[in-house]
Amino acid sequence: MNKATDVVDFKVENGIAWVKFNRPEKRNCMNPTLNRRMMEVLDELEYDDDVRVLVLSGEGTAWSAGMDLKEYFRETEAKGLRGVRQSQRESYGWFRRLRWFQKPTIAMVNGWCFGGGFGPLFACDLAISADEAKYGLSEINWGILPGGGVTKVVVDLLPMRDAMWLTLSGELIDGKQAAEMRLVNESVPLAKLEERVREVADTLLQKNPVALKFAKDAVRRVGTMTYDEAEDYLVRMQEAANFHDKTEGRKEGIRQFIDEKSYKPGLGSYKVDKK
Ligand code: ACO
Repeated sequence: MNKATDVVDFKVENGIAWVKFNRPEKRNCMNPTLNRRMMEVLDELEYDDDVRVLVLSGEGTAWSAGMDLKEYFRETEAKGLRGVRQSQRESYGWFRRLRWFQKPTIAMVNGWCFGGGFGPLFACDLAISADEAKYGLSEINWGILPGGGVTKVVVDLLPMRDAMWLTLSGELIDGKQAAEMRLVNESVPLAKLEERVREVADTLLQKNPVALKFAKDAVRRVGTMTYDEAEDYLVRMQEAANFHDKTEGRKEGIRQFIDEKSYKPGLGSYKVDKK
């Protein structure tokens, strides 16, 4: 694939996969080509041992201007229900793949984020925004409800009044407001965005990768469980993590604290690569 024409750009450096929506001239809105390409890129990166954290950002002034109104809606609708369902499967498919991605993921929101863009925003485990970024559920502005999971995203992430305001007003909020609402973790000036995301990624790079995967899944799963179900699930998941973690990190973490006295778990991570 020619990098210059690839609608998803990516590079892997020092454990971090930097993935970018790359249709800047169309404000990175998601057409079927981009949705298919994103699935391929996630496929390529997910089990690559060189990748320990994934960062998703956008080329140019947008993070993503949502679904492509021409190619994703109008042109697929012209193909009838078969076309519509296919394009839905392709977009929802990679959003889901990203939600349950093997490695922790960070949305680095550099600019516009509209409508369908809330799908990948939610799919990322963490989100760091530029103050200058602008978020909006513009669906109501062109006569539809926020579909494709978007209404579920805002209800899961936000208090009801904020979710309702964004949904009904179609008004924009900036990065700082998004952080106040907890739509994102934090917001920093655009000039500092990449530096801050690198710091956050570095924090994750120091942790046990198996523990990260089980912990991120647990946070997404337990919300709909009763307390007893969650308690049981978490016991089983820790046991499964012990099986998958061939480094026996849990024992090593205890050893470095109790025997070696080389770190304090309350103050930082044990040395993951030391054995
Ligand atoms: N679908 C299709 N084309 C789009 C989209 C989109 N979502 N967003 C931008 N584009 C295209 C424009 O049509 C334009 O194409 P052209 O150069 O061939 O004329 C090009 O991208 C640049 O867009 P401009 O509007 O000229 O860029 P500007 O920087 O002035 O504005 C903004 C950016 C505010 C993002 C504007 O493009 C916009 O409102 N886009 C639509 C946002 C939206 O409502 N998305 C849908 C959300 S709902 C959903 O996802 C289900």
